[in-house]
Amino acid sequence: MFKSHIDKSTGFEKRFENAGTIVYENSAEASKSVAKEIADLIRVRQAQKQPCILGLATGSSPKGLYAELVRMHKEEGLSFKNVVSFNLDEYYPMEPDSINSYVRFMKELLFDQVDILPENYHIPNGMLSKEGIADYCDQYEAKIEALGGIDLQILGIGGNGHIGFNESGSLQNSKTRLVALDHVTRVAASNDFSGLNNTPRTAITLGIKKIMEAKRVILMAWGERKSNIIKASVEGAITNQVPASYLQEHNNATFVLDKEAGSKLTRINTPWLVEKIEWTDKLIRKAVLGLALHLNKPILMLTDADYIENGMSDLLANSGPAYDVNINIFNKLQNTITGWPGGKPNADDSKRPERAEPAKKRVIIFSPHPDDDIISMGGTFKRLHDQGHEVHIGYQTSGNIAVADDEALRFASFVCDYNNKFGIKNTEAEDIYKRAVTFLKNKKSSEIDTEEVRYIKGLIRKGEARATCHFIGIPDEQIHFMELPFYETGAIKKNPIGIADVKMTSDLIEKIKPHQIYAAGDLADPHGTHKVCLDAVFEAVKRLKPEKYMKDCWVWLYRGAWQEWGVDEIEMAVPMGPGQVLEKRKGIFKHQSQKDGVVFQGTDSREFWQRAEDRNRETAELYDQLGLSHYAAMEAFVRWIY
Ligand code: F6R
Repeated sequence: MFKSHIDKSTGFEKRFENAGTIVYENSAEASKSVAKEIADLIRVRQAQKQPCILGLATGSSPKGLYAELVRMHKEEGLSFKNVVSFNLDEYYPMEPDSINSYVRFMKELLFDQVDILPENYHIPNGMLSKEGIADYCDQYEAKIEALGGIDLQILGIGGNGHIGFNESGSLQNSKTRLVALDHVTRVAASNDFSGLNNTPRTAITLGIKKIMEAKRVILMAWGERKSNIIKASVEGAITNQVPASYLQEHNNATFVLDKEAGSKLTRINTPWLVEKIEWTDKLIRKAVLGLALHLNKPILMLTDADYIENGMSDLLANSGPAYDVNINIFNKLQNTITGWPGGKPNADDSKRPERAEPAKKRVIIFSPHPDDDIISMGGTFKRLHDQGHEVHIGYQTSGNIAVADDEALRFASFVCDYNNKFGIKNTEAEDIYKRAVTFLKNKKSSEIDTEEVRYIKGLIRKGEARATCHFIGIPDEQIHFMELPFYETGAIKKNPIGIADVKMTSDLIEKIKPHQIYAAGDLADPHGTHKVCLDAVFEAVKRLKPEKYMKDCWVWLYRGAWQEWGVDEIEMAVPMGPGQVLEKRKGIFKHQSQKDGVVFQGTDSREFWQRAEDRNRETAELYDQLGLSHYAAMEAFVRWIY
C-alpha cells in the first residue's frame, strides 16, 4: 500500500496531488480497508447510540465493498440496525424490481443480506411523475439534513469524471435533481441494457453540494481504464468538466485506488519527479523514453541539459553522461524489434527477445474471444505459421453474446432454405428456426437468449474463427474451441473463474507442451472476459510449472483490441510492412458478425480492424519518433515470467 500524505505547507506531492490518495495492490485489499473504515464508524455510532448515515453508490466499483460488509455481518456480527443510508442515484424512469434498477442492485448485494431496517434505506424513486421530481429531490435532501448530514459518502467515478450522475458541466453547488446522462455514460451502461437504444437517457442524482457536505468522502476506482480520469481529478485543475476534481476542496476526501487506477499519478508514473528514487533498469528505461517523447526528440539526441532540466540529474550523476544513458536505452529498445517472433534459427540470440532453439516451436495462442488472435497479433500469428512453427489456437470463449439477433436469424434461415431446396427433411432445424424467430421477435431488453439461440450465435463465431485460421493456413486439428464455462451464462455478467476453466486450460497446455504461449494481457476489456481468461492461463501455467516441458515454455502477453502496452514495457515488437498490414486486415474481415457496428462497441466508434491498425501504426510511429527504424506497424508483447 502506498499512501500519499499531503503536507499542505511544504509537501512535495502537493505539487501534483491535490487530494488524498491511497493506492492498494488490488481492489480486493482496497475494498476490505474501506469496509473496515465503515464498520468502525458504524460501531462508534452504535456505542454513542447514534445512527450512522451512509451515502452509498452502485456500479461495479463498490461490489467488493458490499461483499465484505456482508461477510462482516455474517461472520463478525456487524449490525446495520443503526445505519441509515442514502443512495446517490437511480435511472429515470426505472421500476424498482427491474433487473437494472439500483434498488435491485442494492437489495441483492447488501440490504437483503444484512439487518438494515427497510425504512432506513433510501434510493431515489425512478417511478415518479416528471412534475413530482423536483419536490421529491428537495425532500430527499431535507431528510439527509434532518439527520445531520452524511457521515461517510462512498463514490465511484465515471470515465468522464462524473460522481453520482453529476456529469461534466455540473456545478459545485448543484442540487439533487433530474439529469440527462452523457453519451459516454450511456455507452458504458448500454451493455447492461442490451444496447444503447434501451439505455435510459435520464437519472435522478444527489447533487454535488450534498456530496461535498458529507463529513467524509471515499471515492473508489479500479483498473487501468480509470487511470487517466483519476490523474485529472487528483492532479488537474478543479473544473466542472471533471466533477470529481471538486473533491480537491473537500477537507476529508480520499481516493482509494488499485495499482492500475493509480498508475498515471505522477508519484507512481514518474516517481523521480516527486522524490529521490532507486534507479532500476526498468525505471531508467521508462524515464528516458518518457523524456524523449515529452521533448519530441529521438533518444540519441537527448542532452545532459535535457536530463537535468527534467528532474533526472541524479540519474545522470550515476550513469551519465547523457550519451551513455542514451545509447544503453537505444540498444535495449532496438533489441526488442524482431521479425522472428518464434526465434531466429541459427542466429546469435543473446540479444534477441526469443530463443533460437528449438528452431521449430510448438505455440499456443490463447484468444479470449474468437477474434482477439487476429485483431491483436494477426501479423505475428501469420509470421509464426509462415516460419514453420506448429501454431495452435485456443479459443477460450464462444463469444456468443456479441452476435446480433438478426445475424442469428439469417444463419438459421439459411439452414432451412438450404434444406428445403435440396429436399432435406429436417423438421427439427425448422423447428429451431421457428422457435428462434419467435423468441427473438419478442425478446425483451436484458432477456437472456435461449440455449438454442446462443448455440446458433456461437456457431457463427466458430465459423468465422475457423475462416481466419484457414486464411493463415492453420489446419483444423490445431484449432481448439475451449468454450470455458465461466463465460456461458448467456448474460454479460460472467461467472468468476472456476476449477473447470483452469483445468480445461491446463489440459490443452499439457496436450501441446508448447514452447511459447501467447495470451491476452488486455485488462481494459470492459466485460472483464480477458481478465478471467488471463487468470485461467496464469493459474494453469503456475500449476504446471513443475512439469519438465514447462522449463522450455515462455509466456508472451499481447494487447491490442482495447489498449496497447506502453513503449517502455514492450519486450518484443514484431514489425509489419504495408502489405502485411493489409493481410492482417483481411484476416480480421473474416469476422463478419463483428463488423459494421457491433453489439458491444464500447466508447470507441472505430471498428476492430481500425483500432488494431491505428494501435499498431502508433506503436511503429513511437519507435520511429524515438529514433529507431520506421515500419508501417508493430505488434507488441511483454513476457510474463512465472
Ligand atoms: C453509481 C454512480 C456512478 C458510478 C460510476 C462508476 O451509483 O453514481 O457515478 O459510481 O459511473 O461506475 P463503475 O463503478 O461501474 O465503474
